[in-house]
Amino acid sequence: MAVRQIRIMGDDILTKKCKPVKEMTRRTMELIEDMFETMYEANGCGLAAPQVGVLKQIVTIDVDDGNQYVLINPEIIAQDGSQTGYEGCLSLPGKSGIVTRPNYVKVKALDENMEPFELEGEGLLARAICHEVAHLEGQMYVELVEGELVDAGAEPEEEIAE
Ligand code: NI
Repeated sequence: MAVRQIRIMGDDILTKKCKPVKEMTRRTMELIEDMFETMYEANGCGLAAPQVGVLKQIVTIDVDDGNQYVLINPEIIAQDGSQTGYEGCLSLPGKSGIVTRPNYVKVKALDENMEPFELEGEGLLARAICHEVAHLEGQMYVELVEGELVDAGAEPEEEIAE
């Protein structure tokens, strides 16, 4: 396993659409392991493959709910409600901004054995799923930010309207 370099906003690769994974290979397994290591090292709760320079539809998520989620070729198939709050991204370190997301999503994807599964998420997990799936489409959360980006850790709480 190895920590990979995280691409920073402004890098073209973050604007490109990712290709579906067709088969699991040793190389892709290594990529997934490296994505977790890279994400943990950067104290992130989600990472998408293009953030480490690979245009494949792979997402890793760990929102501290006791699970490590790997979503391959994910597709959001249901969503409900809304939540408004601060969101950040490892590709834009030190910043955060207010984004409204669904409060519930259901996603279908393949796991690391290329077996289909569905995952339902609420709150932070739903936010992370939406954020990471958008990366696979070449989209950054900054396109959705309401108001100004602020320094992470200095978010004015009264501006959160949930
Ligand atoms: Ni991100």
